Amino acid sequence: MIRYEEQEKAFYLDNGRITYCFGIVKGQYLESRYFGRKIRRYRGSARPWYFDRGFCSNPDPEDKIFSLDTLPQEYPCMNQGDFRQPAFVLQTPDGRRVSRLVYRDYTILPGKPPLAGLPAVYAEQPGEAETLAVRLEDRVSGAQVRLYYTIFRDYDAICRHVEVENPGSESLWLERLMAMSLDLPRRDYDLVTLSGSHLQEKVPHRRPVSSDTVLLESSRGASSPQQTPCVILTDPNTDEASGQVWAVNFVYSGDFQATVQAGQYGGVRVQMGMNPLTFGWELAPGQRFVSPECVLVYSAEGLNGMSGVFHRLYRQRLCRGPWRDRLRPVLLNSWEAFQFSIDEEKCLALAKQAAELGIELFVLDDGWFRNRIDDRRALGDWTEDPDKFPHGLARLADQVRTAGVAFGIWFEPEMVSYDSDLYRSHPDWIIRSPACDPILSRHQLVLDLSRPEVCDYLVESVARVLRRTGASYVKWDMNRHITDLGSAWLPAGRQRELSHRYMLGLYRVLDQLTGQFPEVLFEGCSSGGGRFDAGMLYYMPQTWASDNTDAVCRMQIQYGTSLLFPPVTMGSHVSAVPNHQTGRTTPLSTRFAVAMAGNLGYEMDIRTLSEEDRAELRQQIARYKALRQTLQQGSFYRLLDPCRGNDAAWNFVSQDGSKVIVCQYRVSADPLRRTTAVPLQGLDPEAVYRRQSDGALFGGDELMYAGLSDHPVRQDFTSLVTVLDRVEA
Ligand code: DGJ
Repeated sequence: MIRYEEQEKAFYLDNGRITYCFGIVKGQYLESRYFGRKIRRYRGSARPWYFDRGFCSNPDPEDKIFSLDTLPQEYPCMNQGDFRQPAFVLQTPDGRRVSRLVYRDYTILPGKPPLAGLPAVYAEQPGEAETLAVRLEDRVSGAQVRLYYTIFRDYDAICRHVEVENPGSESLWLERLMAMSLDLPRRDYDLVTLSGSHLQEKVPHRRPVSSDTVLLESSRGASSPQQTPCVILTDPNTDEASGQVWAVNFVYSGDFQATVQAGQYGGVRVQMGMNPLTFGWELAPGQRFVSPECVLVYSAEGLNGMSGVFHRLYRQRLCRGPWRDRLRPVLLNSWEAFQFSIDEEKCLALAKQAAELGIELFVLDDGWFRNRIDDRRALGDWTEDPDKFPHGLARLADQVRTAGVAFGIWFEPEMVSYDSDLYRSHPDWIIRSPACDPILSRHQLVLDLSRPEVCDYLVESVARVLRRTGASYVKWDMNRHITDLGSAWLPAGRQRELSHRYMLGLYRVLDQLTGQFPEVLFEGCSSGGGRFDAGMLYYMPQTWASDNTDAVCRMQIQYGTSLLFPPVTMGSHVSAVPNHQTGRTTPLSTRFAVAMAGNLGYEMDIRTLSEEDRAELRQQIARYKALRQTLQQGSFYRLLDPCRGNDAAWNFVSQDGSKVIVCQYRVSADPLRRTTAVPLQGLDPEAVYRRQSDGALFGGDELMYAGLSDHPVRQDFTSLVTVLDRVEA
């Protein structure tokens, strides 16, 4: 899959469907050449014009038409005459930031080596992937920079990351180290990004790339709900079903920066990596630094084609552990039912009723630990509250299991309250500057996970509860962003390392816990989807997609989230109405039809349901179980975008193609009762499908090209779920 062509001095990564090509120019510079649909060779047919342009610096004084400022570069550095964004900025002991990165050699490795201490896509068998490591040397500092590229046999994706080594005798300081940089050729592109906020995560925004630099970033200590470490470039006419897409996603959960920079002569530079605003690293003699990785996806089949690659890759080669391939349980979470006011009796009553309805897992959310009567206290003290649970959590867990559902529990381990034993005994364990009082958020402080003993404390305090209760599920929450970046543990010269060291500490904690408890299903959460990223999915195969459970808002959130992440990774719950975030009342059937398109759960006081609603819930859950293999492990296609109109739709196709599930939604009632016939995707045009509701037969071609009508209902917030089975012709 990887080869070097000496004649063209070019590296090719090619899996028969996509080709990524870059070459060596003048024996030392790496030139981006091609990334797209498979081509046999790239001999320079689309080469840009080079001539002596104003202000262009010339590294070779004898060659005035050659300038790094116009060369499409693979990994540009600072102060070398390319005035676009550098990917690599290194400070040398003399305080200067001048580099001269030059090509040295390459190696090709079978499989994909892991990234020490970091989440990363993996290969299970060496033959599944191949990795190219290209070594560059900084002639100024002597630093060795290795660019890694992995291509997969079965996924149309390239993974890239960078390693830097200091073979010298003095420290060097990394100031900017992008995991990837790519110069794409001049053409018209649209840029799609996923930004939002708490309660409105991952909203797609699309605009043409015309000039200037678009900056996407987080310096919040988490990937954040505000922006997503993801850049999607498309042809202007690309839609869900057709057109070209080049996408980059960062496998990292902390601060990031992504830039999309339009070049002065056309061409676009895309970079992604840790955010230089909160990153710096002292590279002591002999040390090596490994960047997190980026996943690059190319699709010629529109945004659904791109999502299909991300979904399969992340589901099969990023998520790990036994839960990767298992069907996920339907859960009931206590939060929206009780908030902090929980106790043994209520929990048990809820769990018993949950079991009767067919729910499989009861999750005890926030409020279970000593003194936790509200959000002002007790974070950090992970021991159960004897007032709320007089017989202990272990007994509650046993009783819940006896009732017929598994037991799961909530933690927010990275945080501490002022009013906690943990803070009182370790005031130096928090992130803060000694110069001023730390800023609070939800009344809480952030623990300094760069300190090994803090990480050890977290592992032990979570593990103790899991051992005692035998919990088979953990919800791992994180409800504030990081201010006051300062560590009492790190020396002054290493304070800039805190953000990344925090992430390394968190990843170590998660690695140890998931290693110790492989059977436990972990779900990430950060006030909803505030840290819904590829980094977290490596440790926890699902994430609570949003605190906003309103069905109408959720259509948009799940639609946007699905650009990158498969439905099985999206925790989505049916909650009570009027919705606690929006006040909107939507029918139970529609709440279900939206939540079942993710990883289904319930979050309401089911004790108070009417008999009619209870019967409906029972039916929903049975229906979900019958369909969940397709919903959780099938392919997913977006059909109608709820951010753009009154209708939304998507469809699922089972792995073997035998079942199709179509979900159609209408937000406000249409007085004209117009029909929306939505063309399905991913079906076999030659096959025939039978609609379960009435036995009607339709050809796959008809369903994909003519579409499937919704039904006329005089009501707001309606939904229609259609199941079709492939039948023998
Ligand atoms: C924020 C989460 O998103 C909620 O689901 C809930 O777990 C609360 N935290 C509990 O404090």
